[in-house]
Amino acid sequence: DLLDQINRLEDLFIVPTEKLKEITTHFVKELEKGLSVQGGSIPMNATWCMAFPDGYETGTYLALDMGGTNLRVCEITLLEEKGEFDIIQSKYRMPEELKTGTADELWNYVADCLQQFIEYHHPNEDMGPMPLGFTFSYPATQEYIDHGILQRWTKGFDIDGVEGKDVVPPFEAAIAERNLPIKLTALVNDTTGTMIASAYTDTEMKIGCIFGTGCNAAYMENCGSIPKLAHLNLDPDLPMAINCEYGAFDNEHVVLPRTPYDIIIDKESPRPGQQAFEKMIAGLYLGEIFRLVLVDLHQNPDCKIFEGQDIKALNKAYSLDAGFLSAIEEDPFENLSETHDIFSKQLGITCSRPELELIRRLAELIGTRAARLSSCGVAAICKKKNWETCHVGADGSVFNKYPHFKLRGAQALKEILDWPAGKGKGRGDPVEILPAEDGSGVGAALIAALTLKRAVAGQ
Ligand code: BG6
Ligand code: GLC
Repeated sequence: DLLDQINRLEDLFIVPTEKLKEITTHFVKELEKGLSVQGGSIPMNATWCMAFPDGYETGTYLALDMGGTNLRVCEITLLEEKGEFDIIQSKYRMPEELKTGTADELWNYVADCLQQFIEYHHPNEDMGPMPLGFTFSYPATQEYIDHGILQRWTKGFDIDGVEGKDVVPPFEAAIAERNLPIKLTALVNDTTGTMIASAYTDTEMKIGCIFGTGCNAAYMENCGSIPKLAHLNLDPDLPMAINCEYGAFDNEHVVLPRTPYDIIIDKESPRPGQQAFEKMIAGLYLGEIFRLVLVDLHQNPDCKIFEGQDIKALNKAYSLDAGFLSAIEEDPFENLSETHDIFSKQLGITCSRPELELIRRLAELIGTRAARLSSCGVAAICKKKNWETCHVGADGSVFNKYPHFKLRGAQALKEILDWPAGKGKGRGDPVEILPAEDGSGVGAALIAALTLKRAVAGQ
């Protein structure tokens, strides 16, 4: 019956402390491997962002942010006062079709958004080129900061002819075609932007994380600890931001407790075998994991969930997003009326009370697993760097909106890092994950500023 099914799901989805620790230990090794000459499945990309801001950066910059839920264009003015800035921004929808369209469509759309922004905010102005920080949130190989070869699309993107190539020339061509007064200065990952923006106002900041459509982190390494860059003879004490791209953790499937549903997600995705960790925890996949479980239970003769009902709507892949799960987790357990209503309205399914309880427990299990596994990545960076205390700047829809995500994550950090009683509640924890204020806007502007400063210094 349904209770047996709940027990079975708990066995599949609960990640106990010991498992979290085992995952973290393996994670540390994989971070090291990514920095080594032979490499591993975590790319550990050098970003050429080589300094924290001192808070006194100045100037006006554009920032373009692509790779999360929205496409955003911002204009940021870094002010004379330490850590202060002004920002204006416009959000554009990221049309679903673009993600699997052509490269031309993508770059034209992006350039059109930039054009709209400039025409709206600077009508008829004859302006010199503005430096642009382009937050391109996909894995890229960079030999310098204003270029980047896309290693592979992630987060469901599948556009032919971009992987393996530098994304900057086609982007610049689309800008040039429109005569836009823009000069790309830095190509940035959202995690690096988040770290730098957070460090602008908080000197304890050491890691930038995204818990959103995808999941990933960046931290500051010293060049001497990056064997794969040894041939460049960089000063070993120079800092270098590393975009871990740890969504790719455990692509070999050695340690993560994957369920049959995770295996289906991977198989049906445009890039099977990639982003194993991300596919278990990131916002893009949470609703789909949930949907796959429910469809499976409906088909299971021992379970009889939604018996006799038409589940056509539920059968549609990726029809439920993380917001759907959030709504279920937020619904007061006493009557679960909101859950009842969204199932009825969105899916045409009428749920009984026991079914509603199973649905609620399933959402909790998936959301909790995501938060707990997410913490393994943060804990692994701290362990690798021997940081017992630090601040972590975080952004993304899951972090900002998913109920209990922060607390569940903090509790998992406590278990992994063996903190004493009273810790693991978020505020005041030795490793404290804090919301980053607009990493990809301010962060990209700061990185552009730091890049220009470095160029002037001739480094
Ligand atoms: C936004 C950042 O706030 O969060 C983006 O500006 C980032 O750069 C995004 O990619 C991640 O969250 P989501 O949920 O939109 O993928
Ligand atoms: C995916 C991308 C990565 C990005 C993360 C969060 O993992 O590959 O570059 O940082 O999503 O947006």
